[in-house]
Amino acid sequence: MSESYRQLLDATIQHLEAMKSRGVRHVAVTPENLRALALPVRIKNAECRMQNEKISAAPPVKMESDISVPPKKSVAPTPAAPNLKIEIKSSSPEKSAAFAALRERVLACVKCPNLVASRKNVVFGVGNIDSPLLFVGEAPGADEDAQGEPFVGAAGQLLTKIISATGLSRADVYIANILKCRPDTPGQTAGNRKPTPAEMATCLPYLHEQIDLIKPRVIIALGATAVEGLLGKTVGITKLRGNWQMYRGTPLMPTYHPAYLLRNQSLATKREVWEDILQVMEKLGMPISEKQRNFFLKA
Ligand code: URA
Repeated sequence: MSESYRQLLDATIQHLEAMKSRGVRHVAVTPENLRALALPVRIKNAECRMQNEKISAAPPVKMESDISVPPKKSVAPTPAAPNLKIEIKSSSPEKSAAFAALRERVLACVKCPNLVASRKNVVFGVGNIDSPLLFVGEAPGADEDAQGEPFVGAAGQLLTKIISATGLSRADVYIANILKCRPDTPGQTAGNRKPTPAEMATCLPYLHEQIDLIKPRVIIALGATAVEGLLGKTVGITKLRGNWQMYRGTPLMPTYHPAYLLRNQSLATKREVWEDILQVMEKLGMPISEKQRNFFLKA
């Protein structure tokens, strides 16, 4: 398979994944294109066809992968869903391709032999690569390692609730970690460990590349390790949270990690995190209802 065909394929997969993460479940494909997709790859012809062809207005054919959108005249960028509370522009093919290429490199990374030996999956990141809002956590836990997706365990479910409380969904934001592999815990059957400084230094360039491509307007650093990785600050998260920081010109809001919230269920702590999120919503110009302003305040 030629390199350019491979890149095109990666970009197509990335584009479909981005659509899927926005809730799109079907794409329109003409019977002709569907037949072409079923044929063995004839690289030269396939490259030309895929680059030149536009999806026509022919009736949609439901594919087995179960992804469908109403018929469109051309491969126009997917518009932001009308009920989104922040404007999300659609990715350029170049950006999608660059992101897909980065993903391939990260998935194949073997820089930390101990983590390579213990990991089930590399956890690259998930969400909308054009989102103005990026969440950065520490490292995958057991659930994330098993599923290859960040923040899907108990802490992740809480993060998803926090995101929903803003009026957004996981598919509207991007979620990544400082470390892409689960820190190994030799001799232990359960539990997590903090990434070592060496592991963070090795993995961080990937996150920097993700951020450079996504270009979020705001970053939320979840917990002390995320702050340490992004800002090099080891000041306690209790002191830093709620206070805007700068990451290479991008406003960064440090807040507590959702796992901390699970351990500390006090209304006051929940309110602290919510106030940090309100600051982010304000910075992004998101509408905030009276009800939202008052979440976690005593009645
Ligand atoms: N905690 C993190 O910091 N990241 C995850 O992906 C899951 C839990």
